[in-house]
Amino acid sequence: MGLGLMLLVVVIIVVGICQSADSQSSPNIIFILADDLGFNDVGFRGSAQIPTPNIDALAYSGLILNRYYVNPICTPSRSALMTGKYPIHTGMQHTVLYAAEPRGLPLDLRILPQYLNDLGYTSHIAGKWHLGHWQKAYTPLYRGFSSHVGFWSGHHDYNDHTAVEHGYWGLDMRNGTDVAYNLHGQPTTEVITRQSLNVIANHNSAKGPLFLYVAHAAVHSGNPYNPLPANDDIVAKLSHITKYKRRKYAALVAEMDESVGRIVAQLQKYQMLNNSIIVFSTDNGGPVEGFNSNFASNFPLRGTKNTLWEGGVRGAALVWSPRFTKLPRVAQQTMHISDWLPTLVEAAGGEQALRNLSAANLDGMSIWPALVSDGISPRKSILHNIDNIWGSAAITVDEWKLVNGTNYNGAWDGWYGKPELRNPTDYNWDLVAKCVTGQAVRKLQMLPSRADQIRLRKAATVSCLDKRGAGCNPLVAPCLFNVSKDPCEKNNLAKQYPKVLELLLNELQLANATAVPPSNKPDDPRANPRLWNYTWTNFGDYSDSKNSVVRNSPLLLKNCI
Ligand SMILES: *[C@@H]1O[C@H](CO)[C@@H](O)[C@H](O)[C@H]1NC(C)=O
Ligand SMILES: *[C@@H]1O[C@H](CO)[C@@H](O)[C@H](O)[C@H]1NC(C)=O
Ligand SMILES: *[C@@H]1O[C@H](CO)[C@@H](O)[C@H](O)[C@H]1NC(C)=O
Ligand SMILES: *[C@@H]1O[C@H](CO)[C@@H](O)[C@H](O)[C@H]1NC(C)=O
Ligand SMILES: *[C@@H]1O[C@H](CO)[C@@H](O)[C@H](O)[C@H]1NC(C)=O
Ligand SMILES: *[C@@H]1O[C@H](CO)[C@@H](O)[C@H](O)[C@H]1NC(C)=O
Ligand SMILES: *[C@@H]1O[C@H](CO)[C@@H](O)[C@H](O)[C@H]1NC(C)=O
Repeated sequence: MGLGLMLLVVVIIVVGICQSADSQSSPNIIFILADDLGFNDVGFRGSAQIPTPNIDALAYSGLILNRYYVNPICTPSRSALMTGKYPIHTGMQHTVLYAAEPRGLPLDLRILPQYLNDLGYTSHIAGKWHLGHWQKAYTPLYRGFSSHVGFWSGHHDYNDHTAVEHGYWGLDMRNGTDVAYNLHGQPTTEVITRQSLNVIANHNSAKGPLFLYVAHAAVHSGNPYNPLPANDDIVAKLSHITKYKRRKYAALVAEMDESVGRIVAQLQKYQMLNNSIIVFSTDNGGPVEGFNSNFASNFPLRGTKNTLWEGGVRGAALVWSPRFTKLPRVAQQTMHISDWLPTLVEAAGGEQALRNLSAANLDGMSIWPALVSDGISPRKSILHNIDNIWGSAAITVDEWKLVNGTNYNGAWDGWYGKPELRNPTDYNWDLVAKCVTGQAVRKLQMLPSRADQIRLRKAATVSCLDKRGAGCNPLVAPCLFNVSKDPCEKNNLAKQYPKVLELLLNELQLANATAVPPSNKPDDPRANPRLWNYTWTNFGDYSDSKNSVVRNSPLLLKNCI
């Protein structure tokens, strides 16, 4: 080989290595989790009632996740997101974690930020935790996050940040592990947004990529005495929504949409956007009526938050990344919220990092390659939940869904909401390109044409069977639906397909055999905020036995015990 040729070979190899290293450089990951957002409350899903141009611009320039499932309620869903496991495998399957319970997501489980930190990431959380705080060890700073401005329980008032639960009342807002008295009166969505912008501004990309978990309080209802703490100026702009409570809910959604725009603009300002993955997802379906009702809409899907119908578990979500090929399209890949952990680990660290997860026994599967190049999702079945206390369970295998038993004795098993403003002409298409996010993705030449946007929105709009078929009462006998054809669960096929029914019942039994008992505990009187300067705190760290509180917390009010 001549010297010239050798040099050429060396140059090609070096260039090849540099290029592959560059294309492998790990993306920033921004995970925005909405709380209790209805399926029909984002513009890209077919309703134009609530303006969500920033979220929609990400959806059209990224991937609308059309077959995406979450768990039906907060704590189980968040536990699946953080661990990559079904709640039946972590003890988190029954209802939520109440703020006075002496329990949390088990400490032997590694969680998403810890896996990403192994790959060189720095992780931060802004917003709601809801996976345990009775001892500090359960809180975000002890589980892989470098900072946390936000709250530990399931909800609070958006202005004074107090949380009422089971007759207890106290402040729930933290900066790291300190009580954030200074944030009193600052609206929660604004606090979370500003903290997110600060994290992005202070991130040093030279030291590795960023994982930012933005867990909004929005659009969960506040305390019972002020369930919809919306900004009056935004409410006033939404006068086309006639029902006042729905209008206030819409204001909470619109404010969250604006927050998405500010985060995207900040990523662009700090030259991080073109190397970011942005996920926007709800944690569960909307509580349209009944407990925690915020006047969300899951139209036309059946059921509500905390039911196993599609309205409870089919989530509004998108994922955005410049790495996707074959855009524009709607993603038909089946995905469950537990899939994010392996999916993001593969996006961050490649196949080797994914192989390293094999010892963790995850239920989640990496959908990353299937999302990137429109491949086939490895996920064929989804266990929606098994709750042996409430006697409800549901599983989907391919297009078949089995629902056995139900919650609330069937009180929230109906269809709710109206087909308001669902025509393309009702929708403000100009806003998509003009809003902050629209401008940012246009700079990256990622916003598809108006015609493509219309096509995508149409493809992501769910329509039901015209007629109701055989009825279903899952309290009496298990029901079976073909959710591909019948996403609104109107035609029970249990009698027509007994073999399929048997197969799915069997799958459910197999899953049930692997379940661990739910970890719920009764409220602990030591948690009472009254004992701790009216704050929710790590009561388990300052106690020596079940019912006594020892006096070494700065917050302990001595005259109260
Ligand atoms: C949180 O605490 C840090 C350190 O004291 C401080 O710099 C920061 O401004 C605080 N954040 C908020 C939102 O108050
Ligand atoms: C992202 O944009 C910045 C600034 O324009 C540029 O320096 C960088 O190379 C881009 N990175 C990628 C992965 O495109
Ligand atoms: C995989 O695990 C091995 C052993 O713990 C570790 O050395 C390696 O860095 C990991 N690789 C990736 C890409 O995560
Ligand atoms: C179906 O639900 C009934 C009533 O709760 C229960 O007895 C039965 O064990 C369940 N079967 C399966 C396979 O889940
Ligand atoms: C279920 O629905 C899909 C979509 O409409 C259809 O292709 C499939 O044949 C249906 N399955 C059965 C068994 O009817
Ligand atoms: C799961 O198994 C337990 C016993 O281990 C049983 O009590 C329960 O009914 C089963 N549930 C389902 C859904 O099969
Ligand atoms: C107790 O709470 C008040 C605000 O309600 C605060 O001003 C005060 O500093 C707190 N006391 C301690 C010891 O943290």
